[in-house]
Amino acid sequence: MAVGATIATAVWVMLPAYVPNNTAVIAGGGHPIDGGRTWRGRRLLGDGKTWRGTMAGIIVGTGIAFGLNMLQPSIHHLIGISLPVFTASAAIGLPVGAMVGDMAASFVKRRTGRERGAPFPGVDQLDFVAGALILVAIIATDWFMATFTLPVIVTVLVLTPILHVGTNAIGYFLGFKQEPY
Ligand code: CTP
Ligand code: MG
Repeated sequence: MAVGATIATAVWVMLPAYVPNNTAVIAGGGHPIDGGRTWRGRRLLGDGKTWRGTMAGIIVGTGIAFGLNMLQPSIHHLIGISLPVFTASAAIGLPVGAMVGDMAASFVKRRTGRERGAPFPGVDQLDFVAGALILVAIIATDWFMATFTLPVIVTVLVLTPILHVGTNAIGYFLGFKQEPY
């Protein structure tokens, strides 16, 4: 696959996993998932993981996957690149996995004494990618194997931190996010 097609494929397949995070930032608030519960004196997840943000992220991410499926034939026709079509389990697994990965990172952050919003370089940028890839590999194995070739995975791992830092900086300057990371 040409480099351009690999990059296009990597961004395309990860959009349903990227957008939930930004959706959660905009839609977040209300009841925390951990209900305020603590473990060994620290919050289980913290106030930064809410039902509203999580549900909105999953719904929007799944909608993005189905929306991309509708665009796929036109893009193939226009630029000649056949981008992946999302199966139902991939369409749901990518956003759910992204949200679970982000939550798992909050759990680890609380256990290691990092307060809500404290930076955790590396983990903050890749937690949702790891969550999305792992869940989809489990629930949509055939689709995962056909879609995430080694070049696509490498591109995802290189591009994601760059895109994540960029969009978070924009969210910060627009006033949606409290920290620029
Ligand atoms: N958010 C949410 N629900 C989620 C994820 C995020 O409501 N599942 C919202 C919260 O308002 C959160 C904001 O998006 O404060 C930014 O998300 P993130 O950076 O992941 O959370 P932090 O506040 O930094 O908390 P943590 O340290 O636990 O990551
Ligand atoms: Mg944060």
